[in-house]
This record gives sequence, structure tokens and C-alpha cells, in this order.
Amino acid sequence: TKIFAYGIREDEKPALQEWATAHPEIEIDFTSELLTPETAALAQGADGAVVYQQLDYTRDTLAALANVGVKSISLRNVGTDNIDFDAAREFGFKISNVPVYSPNAIAEHSIIQMSRLLRRTKPLDAKIAKHDLRWAPTIGREVRMQTVGVIGTGHIGQVAINILKGFGAKVIAFDPYQNDKLAAEGLYVNSLDELYAQADVISLYVPGVPANHHMINDESIAKMKDGVVIVNCSRGNLVDIDAIIAGLDNGKISDFAMDVYENEVGLFNEDWSGKEFPDAKIADLIARPNVLVTPHTAFYTTKAVEEMVHQSFDAAVAFAGGQTPETAVEY
Ligand code: COI
Repeated sequence: TKIFAYGIREDEKPALQEWATAHPEIEIDFTSELLTPETAALAQGADGAVVYQQLDYTRDTLAALANVGVKSISLRNVGTDNIDFDAAREFGFKISNVPVYSPNAIAEHSIIQMSRLLRRTKPLDAKIAKHDLRWAPTIGREVRMQTVGVIGTGHIGQVAINILKGFGAKVIAFDPYQNDKLAAEGLYVNSLDELYAQADVISLYVPGVPANHHMINDESIAKMKDGVVIVNCSRGNLVDIDAIIAGLDNGKISDFAMDVYENEVGLFNEDWSGKEFPDAKIADLIARPNVLVTPHTAFYTTKAVEEMVHQSFDAAVAFAGGQTPETAVEY
């Protein structure tokens, strides 16, 4: 059995080596390049492809891969929003992802950013760097005094809720698919509108599927409390960034944290030091004292990277052996 991996980063190599050592019977080859129509031929002769990229898996890309006889794709990440499923179905692709590499990685980061916003660490750090060690006016708010609205109660949302409970926050949640345990606790509100009306802080944990596109927009923001705090560590396309910027400008939104951005491909995980950002909106957001931008790093922990590599290769081998891995994506 031979597995070919695309987009392998330096920081993934130890986990890859570990997996290879544990599976001497599997032949592995890899490239740092992403899967595109041009690089698809590199996988020729392999029984499956392991991939991670935020670049779209387009019809052309899938066709090129199918053309060299590779019909399974095992994503090393959770989101599947960048796959052309119609084309994948047409070419008969088997697809897996890693839905639970480490929900804590993303959940922790989102709550860290939420509490940083509430304690105003960005303006405080800026003051300290300028040798201004006075308290005022950088007074904070406590997490336990907030009603936090959690949108999406899958693996990541559930861990976020547990962390928030530790802080003593009042948590309310919305998800069209309710979790029995959380339902028994009475955490769910009946609609997003209800959540918007009650929450002081709103944090998103839903996939970037078309149905959720720009769910945070002018209309939904108008339904929120004045001075709402919003955190998005899920997918950039969940928010209309122009609506967020307008809300920050008129004070409707007091603070905003984003780990994802609709136009992040080619922007995040690149070094812009000494250069201007190619995107004026990101430059504006990064400059604001009440906005925290991280470049899609919520997932980026040692544990998560290890699990992403190990679980995706496990799934690729299962597909190659004619089995259906637990992490197969049904579509
Ligand atoms: C995901 O797992 O879907 C992420 O957002 C992480 C990133 C490596 C794409």
C-alpha cells in the first residue's frame, strides 16, 4: 500500500515519521506542495492521497487526481467546505477528514481570545510597552458576569461550554441538532434571534457550509445587544466582515476576535514583515485596540498536529484496504 501526502509542513514531519515507523508495511511519499491540477500527477501509483490545504479542491483538481488513478482523499483537518462534492461524487471519490483532532485546541483559543477582549489585554499591553503602568482607563470585565451565547454545540462548542462553565459564565446555546446532555441542562434557546437578544458575548462553532454563509450580517448584528462581543474561530465566511467593521465603527460591537477571515488564503500563514498588508480591511482590523486577529492558529497545537497526521494516514490506509474508516465523510 502506498500513500502520497500533499502540503506536508516541517512541523508535521515528526508526526509523519512516528506514523511511518509504526507502519513499516506502508510506503509513504510526500511533497510540501499543495494539491492542484498541476501537482496531482505526483500521486500517480498511490492508493490514496492525504491532503491539507485551504485552497479549493476544485473539479479540475479532483479530475486530475482521478486521472492518475487516485480515488481517495484523506483530509488532515476537519472543515470540508472547500471540496466540490458534486465533482467528487461524479468521480467516485472516497473522502475522510479528522473531525476530532483536538477540539480543545480551538475551544481554548476562542475562550482565551474572549477573555483577552474582556480584560482588554491588547490596549493594556500597548500601554505597558510604552512604559505607562497606570490602571485607568483599561478596566476589564469578568467572564462570569457575561451571558455567553455559543452557536454550534459539536465537539468544539461542547469543550468551549465546559471551559466557560469553569469561569462561571452563564452559557446559552443554539444548534439545530441538539446534544442530549446540554438539552437536559436547559442550555439551549429556541432560536438564533433569542440568543442574539440575550447574549453579551457570542462565539461561533459552526461549519462554513453554504447555509451558514454570512450568518453574522447587518441584520443579525442589529438583533444583538448594544456593545456585544463577537468571537469567530470557525470559518471566515460565517461573518460579513463589512457588517462587523460597521458595527465596530458605530459601537454596536464593542470587541471582536477573529482567527479566520473570508479572504485568508494567501494572506494568513505568510510573512508580511516589512511589507504592507495586501488587504486594507485586515490592516484596519489589526490596528484596532478592540480587535484581536490571529492567523488561523486556533488549531495549531502540538497535540492537534500529531492527531491530524496520524488519523488522516490511518483513514487513507483503511480506504486503500477497502474499508470505511470511522472518519469517512458521508456526502
Ligand atoms: C480545520 O481543521 O478545518 C481547520 O480550520 C484547520 C486548518 C488546518 C485548516
